[in-house]
Amino acid sequence: MRFDVFTLLPEVFKPYLSTSILQRASQKGLIEVHLHNIRHWATDKHQTTDDEPYGGGGGMVMKVEPIFAAVEDVLGSPPPCPVILLTPQGRLFNQQIAEELSHLSQIALICGRYEGLDERVREHLASDEISIGDYVLTGGELAALILIDAISRPIPGVLGDPMGAQADSFAMGLLEYPHYTRPPEFRGWKVPDILLSGDHGKIARWRREQSLLRTWQRRPDLFEKATLTQTEQRFLESLQQSQIEKNQNPPENNESRD
Ligand code: ADE
Repeated sequence: MRFDVFTLLPEVFKPYLSTSILQRASQKGLIEVHLHNIRHWATDKHQTTDDEPYGGGGGMVMKVEPIFAAVEDVLGSPPPCPVILLTPQGRLFNQQIAEELSHLSQIALICGRYEGLDERVREHLASDEISIGDYVLTGGELAALILIDAISRPIPGVLGDPMGAQADSFAMGLLEYPHYTRPPEFRGWKVPDILLSGDHGKIARWRREQSLLRTWQRRPDLFEKATLTQTEQRFLESLQQSQIEKNQNPPENNESRD
């Protein structure tokens, strides 16, 4: 997978890309991240990449020409791959989008800065717009790093453990089960006995149930899309039933306090 990132702040990317699992992934040739500083395509002597907005108002707007020049110079015209603009106005990023994009061989990412960027980039250069959440960052760089990270993880070989990405939270459409490692007891808090039992069948069932329980408690909206086996469906129904019973049972000391 090749990422071409167009940004005014290429230095922001380097520390993260050179210290994480992603560095190993590039050393193994599984991903390539090419950083392109949009400023290099500015043509005036001050290398201007922003200007005042037409119509007035505060703030500066990123200029259209250096962005087009950078993308077309590096990728050609038309670009042979999706050109994704990072913007809070884009479609909301999630695991499904990350997995879909992870099958591609090349992706271009454009990071906006300042108060905005010339609308013609959105209209005539970007083929997709992605937001990482309903909040506004000072630029698209952190969003681009998040995309690079999440899109790289499902690529075979990027994670040391080949099952790692599959067991991830969200990869199965549910939240992940709880994890423990040594020691078996810390300050009186014990690791659940079942995990020490060595019974792999029981452990797998417990993990799946924990995953269902957590999702039910914290993110019930995820069930709308998750595919459950019949056993899992029954487990979920038993959780729902126990909740109904709890709500129906009168509290133990429910005498009137009037
Ligand atoms: N740029 C600024 N805010 C952003 C967001 N929430 N997602 C993607 N890009 C952004």
